[in-house]
Amino acid sequence: MNALQTVSSLIYLISAVCYVLGVHMMRSPKTARHGNGLSAIGMFLAVITIIVTIIVEGTIDSVGWIVLVLGLALGILYGVVKARKVPMTDVPQLVSLFNAVGGGAAAVIGIFDYLLKGDGAALSLAFSLPVFLDVVIGGITFSGSLIATGKLSGHVPGKPITFPGARLLNIIVVVAILASAWFMMASPTNVWYVILALVMSLIFGLLMTLPIGGADMPVVVSLLNAFTGLAVAFAGFVINNQVLIIAGALVGAAGTILTLQMADAMNRSVANILAGGFGTGDSDANSAADAVPVDVKETSADDIGLQLAYAHNVMIVPGYGLAAAQAQHEVAELAKVLTDKGINVDYAIHPVAGRMPGHMNVLLADVNVPYEQMKQLDEANPMFENTDVSLVIGANDVTNPLARESGNEISGMPILDVDKSKSVVVIKRSMSTGYAGIQNPLFSMDNTQMFFSDAKKGLQDIVAATKQYLE
Ligand code: TAP
Repeated sequence: MNALQTVSSLIYLISAVCYVLGVHMMRSPKTARHGNGLSAIGMFLAVITIIVTIIVEGTIDSVGWIVLVLGLALGILYGVVKARKVPMTDVPQLVSLFNAVGGGAAAVIGIFDYLLKGDGAALSLAFSLPVFLDVVIGGITFSGSLIATGKLSGHVPGKPITFPGARLLNIIVVVAILASAWFMMASPTNVWYVILALVMSLIFGLLMTLPIGGADMPVVVSLLNAFTGLAVAFAGFVINNQVLIIAGALVGAAGTILTLQMADAMNRSVANILAGGFGTGDSDANSAADAVPVDVKETSADDIGLQLAYAHNVMIVPGYGLAAAQAQHEVAELAKVLTDKGINVDYAIHPVAGRMPGHMNVLLADVNVPYEQMKQLDEANPMFENTDVSLVIGANDVTNPLARESGNEISGMPILDVDKSKSVVVIKRSMSTGYAGIQNPLFSMDNTQMFFSDAKKGLQDIVAATKQYLE
């Protein structure tokens, strides 16, 4: 190992430490921003080291320089502009787009190195196997992530897209991928086998993602993120680069854990999610489910204002509807009005409330809700017994007591025990179901009152009424 290799290996090690510590810091909203910064420093060090290495070793020609500089400039420009402009609610599709780019880049590395080395010499299994895995996983991630991006942004219909013979086509594609692997390793000089592996993987990515409903896309994006990590790690084996192996393995592991946690919090298996057909999107406020059953008690902004003004402990339970209505400013304003008068306000955050991991945390952090007021499920549940008013805003499934019973779509899913509070006020537009498509008995319980309104408009009215009683 020469001096340059020693120094670059050391810098790669420092980069890897930055990634690991960065991911560790992302466990809490308080340190997440710094964790992100630390990981970015690690990545910056790795990129600079690669550039210095190729300059010193002189392994790049003038065309290579043009591609490198142009690629870096375009990538940095697009990344900075897009990340600065993207609204919080569009982050999942941006992550998905980045997954596509990561998977695609890894596949290109594999193909390029295979073409370089497959010049007639027999290639070892230790080389061709990582190339194959890199190309296949990268290809699946590329096309699958593009469909996921389209579904999340509304450019591709959110409902599951299926067609007759899809299962048979899937089998044919998988067989073709395996056959191409076999021939690729048996006949390393024939580039067509690696091209076949790539094309079949791209088709498999489409077939895998199209039948899955738009609302399940966050879990799929997380899974594809894990795939990107794996593809990048295999690309690291192909070109013998430690930092790619470490970063890829870290993304692969983190993405897998997140996928499993999300599936767990929904009490569904990853296989069930990939089988598709569930969660086609969001309920329609004007659907047949709108009919208000007689046993539901309706309330008004004025009455809610009165209840809040006389409460000691208030728990706000945000859900997907809060995000859809973009009512985070109003909810923060209401909390401020109450806390200014000495009323305790906390937020109960369910891990899969909303439609993406950390959806509620991100929304509330955006309007500077103090972290100590955001209670996670385990912390919030024991608090409901001492809660005077639980204000459920655009949340449905995550509060549904049917989860405690067997034989329904959400059986076993951990829920927020709002029904244990003294009084429950639910703000939503109608009696429509939530994402799981089942009715919620919470709405007709004795201690529950319904306030049928858009979350934003309803909260504005409640703020006005509460102020009146607290003055
Ligand atoms: P949901 O159960 O989907 O219920 C949201 C409720 O918000 C709906 O019943 C809807 O009722 C109401 N709503 C919609 N727009 C509104 C508006 N403008 N103003 C007021 N209310 C509005 O939401 P949740 O309780 O947050 O549960 C999340 C669900 O998504 C879970 O089933 C979870 O498994 C699933 N999911 C989550 C994730 C992640 S990672 N978070 C990923 C995939 C799936 P109206 O139409 O009557 O207003």
